[in-house]
Amino acid sequence: AELIRSRIVGLLEAFPDYPRPGVVYQDLSRIYAEPGVLDDAADHVRDHFSGRFDRIVAVESRGFVMGAVLAARCEVPLTLVRKPGKLPGAVHSVGYALEYGEDRLEVRQGAIAPGERVLCVDDVLATGGTLLAAAELVEASAAEVAGSVVLVELSGLPGAERLKAYDLLSLCEVAA
Ligand code: PRP
Ligand code: MG
Repeated sequence: AELIRSRIVGLLEAFPDYPRPGVVYQDLSRIYAEPGVLDDAADHVRDHFSGRFDRIVAVESRGFVMGAVLAARCEVPLTLVRKPGKLPGAVHSVGYALEYGEDRLEVRQGAIAPGERVLCVDDVLATGGTLLAAAELVEASAAEVAGSVVLVELSGLPGAERLKAYDLLSLCEVAA
């Protein structure tokens, strides 16, 4: 746990005042560029939730990377939760608040089987709005959220508190 944590922290690149003054942007490019890091992170997640999930749900768009690695590594099915208007057929749809305005996430009806235990995966946790919306989509599918996973948790924001009911695993925490 400490080894993967320090590797991720060491590869993060902070951009102060991006995209707005007062915000520190955490760029994950060097994590993705380093062979093996996501695999090791995925192995840690697999061991942490050992056998307690049936499916990975990954959130568009930056959650797709870790979600895909994790699903492959754990040999479980992967479902992509999309931004609005991207999916054919009937969808479940959940709105969530952004700093300015609102966004939505959607999943195809039937993509997640009733009763399945699902891990929701994203890259970064800030306010928690995105992962909460993903969790609500799992519940709208009559499935169960087994846990939620992020590579980076921005501490000092309400995200972790809001995700409490969903057994959050953050691979590292950095100051927002
Ligand atoms: C970013 C990030 C997380 C989310 C975290 O995604 O990838 O998904 O914000 O913020 P929150 O905890 O306050 O919801 P963004 O909405 O920028 O979209 P992207 O992944 O498509 O770039
Ligand atoms: Mg995102």
